Amino acid sequence: MSTQTPNKRLTTRDIAAMRQRGEAVAMLTAYDATMAALVDMSGADMILVGDSLGNVVLGHETTLPVTLDDMIRHAAAVKRGSHRALLVCDMPFGSVTNPDSALTNAVRIMKETGVEAVKLEGGIAMVPTVEKLVAHGIAVVAHIGLTPQHVHQMGGYYMHGKDEASAGRLREEARALEAAGAFAIVLECVTPALAAEITHMLTIPTIGIGSGKDCAGQVLVINDLIGLNTSPPPSFARPRADVAGMVRKAVGEYVAETKAERGPIPLVRRVD
Ligand code: KIV
Repeated sequence: MSTQTPNKRLTTRDIAAMRQRGEAVAMLTAYDATMAALVDMSGADMILVGDSLGNVVLGHETTLPVTLDDMIRHAAAVKRGSHRALLVCDMPFGSVTNPDSALTNAVRIMKETGVEAVKLEGGIAMVPTVEKLVAHGIAVVAHIGLTPQHVHQMGGYYMHGKDEASAGRLREEARALEAAGAFAIVLECVTPALAAEITHMLTIPTIGIGSGKDCAGQVLVINDLIGLNTSPPPSFARPRADVAGMVRKAVGEYVAETKAERGPIPLVRRVD
């Protein structure tokens, strides 16, 4: 049996080696095969099939309505479109309510999509679940700070780690999730100073979003990076393109040309 990694896809060992040699991890979301192919061929190290799918693609207000079937359908498409990046699929709200059902759901994701890892949101409460998944051979990315699946419990979207109680909790969560076996940890909207401190504290890479420049990597929602939105992106996103503007221009021209080139169309004759 060959021991070579198929398709030269990056592995969790490659991500760990990047952290060891101080190379930043560039991660982006993708939700379909075409965008996955573009993100992959442009050099992203990791692609996240995020449950931001709910907001970005499915038109929900929050990520809460996203189902396991939604995640599986889109993660399988991302797998078909990509060849190099390590793929991570989010475990949606309600799919990690206890370690046993989380394992069943993670196994379904792994079998039906072919991704390399799953990501789950939450702090100390998720430690037994991370341990269980890792014990069964599943690579896990943890996610703390602003965890959008808990938006109602948290009372909105805001920066975390501003006061000592919150900062202490985040430090404790980060240490515990690393000890539980997570191979990377997303820090979302954590104050930059605390994100830098946690990055130095851990040996696994921290992947920041809205948490400053001093994490070991960064993740962004692809639509926020390329300006493919109908409402303003989060302030930290700094779009590099205006794809929404290009789409509106192209569609506007198409509509105008279609009407102009055809002129008045003969009226339908009524047959009584
Ligand atoms: O769902 C998602 O896209 C995410 C990132 C924003 C980290 O969890």
